Amino acid sequence: MENKNRGFQTSCIHSGEEWNKSGHLSPPICQSTAFEFPNTEEGARRAADIHADEFYGRWGSRNEREFEAIIAALEGAEDAVSTSSGLAAISMVFHALLQPGDHCVAVHNCYSESKILIEELCKQHSVELTMISSEDIENYRNAINPNTKLVYAETPANPTITLVDIQEVSRITKEQSDAIFVVDSTFATPYNQQPLKLGADIVLHSATKYIGGHSDVVAGVCAGNKDLMSKVRKAFSFHGPKLDPFAAWLLCRGVRTLGLRVQKHNENALKIATFLENHPMVNKVYYPFLKSHKQHDVAARQMTGGGGMVCFEVKGGMNSGLSLISNVKLNKMAVSLGGYSSTITHPASMTHNLLPREEREKGGITDGMLRLSVGIEEVEDIQADLENALNQANLVTN
Ligand SMILES: Cc1ncc(COP(=O)(O)O)c(C=O)c1O
Repeated sequence: MENKNRGFQTSCIHSGEEWNKSGHLSPPICQSTAFEFPNTEEGARRAADIHADEFYGRWGSRNEREFEAIIAALEGAEDAVSTSSGLAAISMVFHALLQPGDHCVAVHNCYSESKILIEELCKQHSVELTMISSEDIENYRNAINPNTKLVYAETPANPTITLVDIQEVSRITKEQSDAIFVVDSTFATPYNQQPLKLGADIVLHSATKYIGGHSDVVAGVCAGNKDLMSKVRKAFSFHGPKLDPFAAWLLCRGVRTLGLRVQKHNENALKIATFLENHPMVNKVYYPFLKSHKQHDVAARQMTGGGGMVCFEVKGGMNSGLSLISNVKLNKMAVSLGGYSSTITHPASMTHNLLPREEREKGGITDGMLRLSVGIEEVEDIQADLENALNQANLVTN
């Protein structure tokens, strides 16, 4: 069977198998910094091949290559590059594609540290940066010019679940410039959204989240065509933000069940979002597959499921929000997301506290907002825990 005709979960399980040459069903961890060459010609050949898996540890081992092959297959990409964190993936893409004097368009309503990193990188490298709000398509039309070399978006956005119409932004980017369009698709996962098929040039993920899926590894990955990935791999090989082979092994193990996990995340999150929307203590719920989401039409066009992330605002602002997350038990109070267990966070004081209040508000992050990463427990248990905590938050408000 042609690999590209395989189902998603079959690809999760069987892609990248060619990198396991051991005959072991579970691949060995390649914990070696260097490799013995059989002869001088082979040493020289590997030195000239940036993809070599047995040259030098900083270039990556077969555990990383196996992980990269799986992600390339799931995203429909020619190649992928893995990194030691999601931010490192963003950083390597920016280093690979931008030169002093270039122009870059990025969204300010995204993960706070991505925004800070992009601002710092552009400042340090004399790249002119235009930060826009992501949901209004006119903002892209106004910002992109012939000198624009990189357009950056995150969809759905952390934490507000604001969407970017990937197809439309890709069209505008190509009409108005020769820029590379980069999409952070962490919240969606390749199961729910495949940006390259919608016209993006590079897709990237914090693999720390759903791709790893078990809250036990920090990692990043980006994917695209061979030419772009060679540029990123070159930047990567000099900067050196590589994955540890054990981290790559954990990622391969985690991603083998991505399809199954995300199906359950989708199912549970839609039920929880619906429950919250009907709860008297809740002012507003942000979930792409709720009809009330202001960009529901975009979600229906470009996503096959809403994902596991639900954002909501409780009545009573900061106090009742903090009361709620102090009283949940099953839903653990923690940052990060995308693991098998449900977690809840208060963006204003936790994930996005590095941003000043006015910047948070500009990005739609209010003090009473909570962000839920709906896990794959039985949904009745997640809901019962939230219901109990909402009742207690109600007591604080009244
Ligand atoms: C959407 C998104 N992109 C990128 C990152 C950064 O990833 P990492 O923490 O793996 O560096 C995060 C982290 O939360 C994120 O939520």
